Amino acid sequence: MRKLFVAGNWKMNLNYIEAVTLADDLKEQLASSDDLAKVDVAICPPFVYLAQLGQVIKGSGIGLGAQDVYFEKNGAFTGEISVAMLKDVGCSYVIIGHSERRHVIGETDELIHQKLLAVLGGGLKVIFCIGELLEERESNLTEEVLERQIRSGLAGVTAEQMSRVTVAYEPVWAIGTGKTATGDQAQEAHKFSRSIIADMFGVELAQQVRIQYGGSVKPDNAAELMARPDVDGALVGGASLKLEAFLGIVEAGASLG
Ligand code: 13P
Repeated sequence: MRKLFVAGNWKMNLNYIEAVTLADDLKEQLASSDDLAKVDVAICPPFVYLAQLGQVIKGSGIGLGAQDVYFEKNGAFTGEISVAMLKDVGCSYVIIGHSERRHVIGETDELIHQKLLAVLGGGLKVIFCIGELLEERESNLTEEVLERQIRSGLAGVTAEQMSRVTVAYEPVWAIGTGKTATGDQAQEAHKFSRSIIADMFGVELAQQVRIQYGGSVKPDNAAELMARPDVDGALVGGASLKLEAFLGIVEAGASLG
């Protein structure tokens, strides 16, 4: 049985005071519930708040994640952040291949692959995002796109490293649009993704890999999505910026867990 995993991707939002307050409130609320026994929870704030928020949530059971990383160990890479730096400030997760990095910033499958290997090689956990554009779905290319992203992203990953990978299926047309995939659409994409992972790593290992759904997850649709057999949690954008909404999603997971 896979434990559900709900992570908040704060993207480029909140100021310093808002970030500290949100993390502190979240820690306090989760401390007074038994949700963390049933659901793994992580927050992924902007880089500049990581060190401080690492202190705020220390000992709370809430995981800390970064939204990106660079694959080189150190050197003349102006503006970039290394895996070791993220470890240094208390991160245990790194989001890799988010659609905004793929489609807004222009990251390629190859760059994403290098980043993913660097994170796993450095001992951290990866939240590896995949997902199709609207025009790809409308052209019946969803499975082709997911398969390409999975095979290129996870090439060369060892079985031990796979135990530190969470996949996040985020259909690009559902991100920030208020348009959520239906439970059936999510289940279909997750099941297909798991079958590709099984082909690469074997059925037993594929059964242990958690696949989150992301794209306009809210407290009122979270349970319907996470109740599907291959949906193992959520990667939450907008709703993770509001304490009540994020807690509502965590609680929806806990009620299923
Ligand atoms: P929204 O929840 O705002 O649609 O964002 C989803 C997402 O991209 C999480 O990584």
